[in-house]
Amino acid sequence: MPQPDIEPVNEVPVHPRPGIIDPPERYGYFDPDNRQYVITRPDTPQPWYNYITNGSFTGYVSHTGGGTCFAQGDPVEKRILRTHLHGRPADQPGRWIYIRDRDSAAVHSATWAPLYTPLRKFKYLCRVGAGYMTIQAECNRIRSEVTYFVAPDAEAELWLVTIANADRRARRLDIFPYAEFFLWSLQRDNNLDAAFKCTDIAADGRVIVHRSYYDWGEQRGGWQRQFAYFASSAAPSSFDTNLEAFVGIFRGYDRPLAVQAGRCSNFTNRGGEPIAAMQIPLTLKPGASRSFVFAVGYARSDAEAQRPGRRVANVAFARQQLGKVKQRWRDYLAHFQAQTPDPTFDVPFNTHLPYQSAITFICSRSIAPYLLTGTRGLGYRDSNQDALGAMPYQDPQAVRRLIATLLSIQRPNGEACHDFFPGPGAGRGGGYSDDHLWSALAVEWYVKESGDLAFLDEPVGFHESDKQASVLEHLERGLRFTERNLGAHGLPLLRSADWNDCLNAFPGAESVFVAGLYCAACKALEALYRAIGNKARARRCARRHATMAERINRHAWDGQWYLRLITRDGKPVGSKSNRYGKIFIESNTWVVIGQAAPPRRARAALDSVRKYLATPYGHRLCWPPYEDYDPNVGTCTIFAPGQKENGSVFCHTNPWLVVAEAMLGRGERAFDVFRRLSPYTKDQIQNIHCAEPYAVNSTIVMPPNLEAGRARNPWLTGFASWLLACMGRAILGIRPDFDGLVIDPCVPRWPAFRVQRIFRGTTYHIEVTNPDRVERGIKRITVDGRELEGNLVPAVEDQPEVHVQVLMG
Ligand code: GLC
Repeated sequence: MPQPDIEPVNEVPVHPRPGIIDPPERYGYFDPDNRQYVITRPDTPQPWYNYITNGSFTGYVSHTGGGTCFAQGDPVEKRILRTHLHGRPADQPGRWIYIRDRDSAAVHSATWAPLYTPLRKFKYLCRVGAGYMTIQAECNRIRSEVTYFVAPDAEAELWLVTIANADRRARRLDIFPYAEFFLWSLQRDNNLDAAFKCTDIAADGRVIVHRSYYDWGEQRGGWQRQFAYFASSAAPSSFDTNLEAFVGIFRGYDRPLAVQAGRCSNFTNRGGEPIAAMQIPLTLKPGASRSFVFAVGYARSDAEAQRPGRRVANVAFARQQLGKVKQRWRDYLAHFQAQTPDPTFDVPFNTHLPYQSAITFICSRSIAPYLLTGTRGLGYRDSNQDALGAMPYQDPQAVRRLIATLLSIQRPNGEACHDFFPGPGAGRGGGYSDDHLWSALAVEWYVKESGDLAFLDEPVGFHESDKQASVLEHLERGLRFTERNLGAHGLPLLRSADWNDCLNAFPGAESVFVAGLYCAACKALEALYRAIGNKARARRCARRHATMAERINRHAWDGQWYLRLITRDGKPVGSKSNRYGKIFIESNTWVVIGQAAPPRRARAALDSVRKYLATPYGHRLCWPPYEDYDPNVGTCTIFAPGQKENGSVFCHTNPWLVVAEAMLGRGERAFDVFRRLSPYTKDQIQNIHCAEPYAVNSTIVMPPNLEAGRARNPWLTGFASWLLACMGRAILGIRPDFDGLVIDPCVPRWPAFRVQRIFRGTTYHIEVTNPDRVERGIKRITVDGRELEGNLVPAVEDQPEVHVQVLMG
């Protein structure tokens, strides 16, 4: 066997970003006391976003008002606002508020965009909070504040706006709020002719209703109207409902005709590009201010649009609803809080990461600033993993519903559909080797979190079948599906792909990653059977695990690490004998997590991962990246080297490494893997990272790409859930079990830390001291003053608080 030399690749050179001279050092900072990130200047390296949602109506909004929103959890068919993907300036159109001085005709916008007034004339601050985004500005001696959020009690997003006169003389202004409607689905909206033909707007005083037709398909009633509205708390003096009338043709959003003219055209759009804009006159004495609410909402009829439109576009209602939003997220975050010696840990853990994980729990990968997709619903593997991180915080009923919904698109043969679509309420796609296995982990974690053993007996249907089976039986069928789809070495067939979607051109190949995941699923089922007293089945799961572990170690060990695949003709992928893709992170971490690696091999595999895949920005997915399209490897090879599945830091995989390192008790290693990717760390390198530091992202570009270190695809990524899970479970070491909380920290020799964790309704105050500065190990635990045997703090009933003292050593 040839032994090509492999050099470690840890160095990542930094190249200056093209197109920007003398960038400012920073664009914002974390404000943990207020649980916010504060953006201090609007000219960030790229738009920085936040999500706003009530669980059903959801939007994302940038720090200059851009983004979109959708109703009833359905971004595929109920998308309301338009946003362009490729336009320049980026992130247009937006939820803008033009402010025009009636005397001087000077114009600026409360959101900076789309006028981009020079910063010496424009003061700006943006507060990014859980559930809201507040943009404050001062320009032309007018102060403004806009808070965007979704009303908990309405299917609508609200813009709560205050305009204040900071001048010494009275000011006569017109404000022009602007929203641009989308034609419900990407396909519809892309076809301008269709958009022109069918759009229909009704404007009536304070409410503009967009009531264009949508084709629901034969089975769901064919062409029917659906209704979105734009409503204002103040009466407009004029309005526009058509893009051409408001903006014009050969001009941009920075100089809309109507704003320049100082009045809208009162044109009612029936067959043109639908927008909502209003002119609201306002005279303010020196020091005076006035508040408004603009609402973008969804309704089922004209009348329904009028009524809630008027009800929700109301300042008192909006203030009350904003209070409710803030309270809701305070309560949510309170489920798990930590004070450690390291802000790298605490700042993301206590606010931003659980918030983001809640967003992925709702949105899966359906719609994000860089994924304006019209074809993805809730991903089966994605949402099962999203549930993992969100469990300590979520209402157990919501978790139960999500897991059961996903199980309902499993086929009777055990294979799962790839996506669930909330609109039609159905699954689609399939053919992957991993999807069905993730349910085993989600169910195990859920039952341990909630104590809801009854869920295992719950009958759940199947995809395109009249049959039903218990949750546990669904999981069994999943395991059996894998067992019926094994290759020549007895390892699971890759089928169309596994978790790594783009390693997909190997008909007949076997996946070592899926073998590891299957082992973890066997362990999960073993635990569940044991919990319900079915010892025989539990023992059977242990045997299944042992059989697969033996095969992995017989066929997939490459000397220093585990292979990624074995092709149909027996060739290895992820081997030192390969030219590209010599080593992959997924198989090596999951063989350890699935408890299939003997201790020496586990250590060697993770050491190799560290040696070859670690970079200052995180650990790469594989190395070296493929240089050219290789039809024998898959679509990852069409990605530029260092992008996405072709050798970037695919962040989602890094928490797996944290978990695996912690399972070996290597607390410093685990923390080091975590630290490289912590949002707090990324906040120190804003000009390299480029994306919003307060939200984690999917991949980090790697060499040879010149943008190495740059973050791609923030927000909807499985990384959020796994990062949160590895922090709580692997590093803090607090893991629910059927009868209580396991305490098993694995830390970078912290001297002490504290945790508050709500578990089944009881708040656990956990104080850990570590005078010997060990990485792992427990000397003593006392619970409410009584010494405990072992490290399982028992669950209690009807006791609001429990105090736990932990001595490591
Ligand atoms: C994307 C997909 C996810 C997949 C991952 C790796 O994030 O949403 O399902 O596992 O890419 O290919």
